[in-house]
Amino acid sequence: MRVHVLGSGGREHAIGWAFSQQGYEVHFYPGNAGTKRDGVNHPYEGEKTIKSIPEEDLILPGSEEFLVEGVANWKSNVFGPIKEVARLEGSKVYAKFFMKKYGIRTARFEIAETPEELREKIKKFSSPYVVKADGLARGKGVLILETEEEAVEKGSKLIEGSLIKGVSGPVVLDEYIPGEELSAMAIVNGRNFVLLPFVRDYKRLLTGNKGPNTGGMGSWGPVDISPDTVSKIEELFDKTLWGVEKEGYIYRGFLYLGLMLYNGDPYILEYNVRLGDPETEVIVTLNPEAFVNTVLEGYRGGRMEAISPKGFAVDVVLASRGYPDAPEKGKEITLPEEGLIFFAGVSEKDGKLVTAGGRVLHCMGTGSTKEEARKDAYELVKKVHFEGKMYREDIAL
Ligand code: AMP
Ligand code: GLY
Repeated sequence: MRVHVLGSGGREHAIGWAFSQQGYEVHFYPGNAGTKRDGVNHPYEGEKTIKSIPEEDLILPGSEEFLVEGVANWKSNVFGPIKEVARLEGSKVYAKFFMKKYGIRTARFEIAETPEELREKIKKFSSPYVVKADGLARGKGVLILETEEEAVEKGSKLIEGSLIKGVSGPVVLDEYIPGEELSAMAIVNGRNFVLLPFVRDYKRLLTGNKGPNTGGMGSWGPVDISPDTVSKIEELFDKTLWGVEKEGYIYRGFLYLGLMLYNGDPYILEYNVRLGDPETEVIVTLNPEAFVNTVLEGYRGGRMEAISPKGFAVDVVLASRGYPDAPEKGKEITLPEEGLIFFAGVSEKDGKLVTAGGRVLHCMGTGSTKEEARKDAYELVKKVHFEGKMYREDIAL
């Protein structure tokens, strides 16, 4: 059995690396300059590419676009939900109605399809106002606004398509839930699931949680979560998978709950039908063998065992100057001989590695304590060089 990973970021490199460590032949679509070191890169041409992969192989989609597009509808050897189920991530309106129907704890909400409706329905909420685009918006689709005027103005633009390029249509108005954010991920087959180790990620660009939101500047795990909270989270997975079954579908693949802990209870803010990035980099580093075995058990419908983390892992992201708005590109990268690094925005030019995106590399550290793992990661950070290298100093601090 060969393994085919769809995507081109650090998460996909990490997944492919784990399988290649266990002796599997790995193919990436389209991959990047780093994935080539752990397998073979191919162009991705949608349905044609997927249908050309043999039945006996395993296909692992990394990012949601593939699932929302329907890769799991084209072929049965995809470990991921079919597009009808991927709407849990692809449409916030669908996800909210789903949660309401199955009694799954989420923020109170209304849907607005026109600016007039928005002006009307916003009155049912108070500041801060939460307005969310329905469809995929590459992490930019959630607005949190102080005043009603702002919420109406920006929300109307969102509906009409003039706020975010390529995004228009209905919006979700959510009640603001204060509290502590946590994400939870599981490997799922039908009603069976196993939680993955909890990982903390850092979304803001700068040290001290300052600056704009990004795709993630680092992460560490395992994070210790109280057994009481864990069982409440398991209940949310249970109810979700029960709901999916009631809708007439079977969930297979990874499921990620974006949660807010408020007054001791987890609320679901969002569903993702994939693994998190940069959470995956930490999870596979904690125990690549167990990750691979559990994914394979989940894929085959066998008995999944919880992954025991071996110590701690830390991921420090190196980004390009100008990220997230206008990252510089084409800067030559030099790497040390040793150390675990997952590649994201890296390409090759004249046989040299050059930066090709906002998030460039994930420098991984491991250790028997969080502090050791942190030190290990930052030592690696110092040995990587490219012009305009940026990173946070406080990952896992
Ligand atoms: P989402 O993509 O729905 O997870 O939203 C992105 C971010 O917006 C979350 O990680 C939260 O920080 C924030 N957020 C979303 N919905 C709410 C809510 N109802 N109350 C408070 N914060 C929220
Ligand atoms: N790290 C957040 C996400 O992957 O959605």
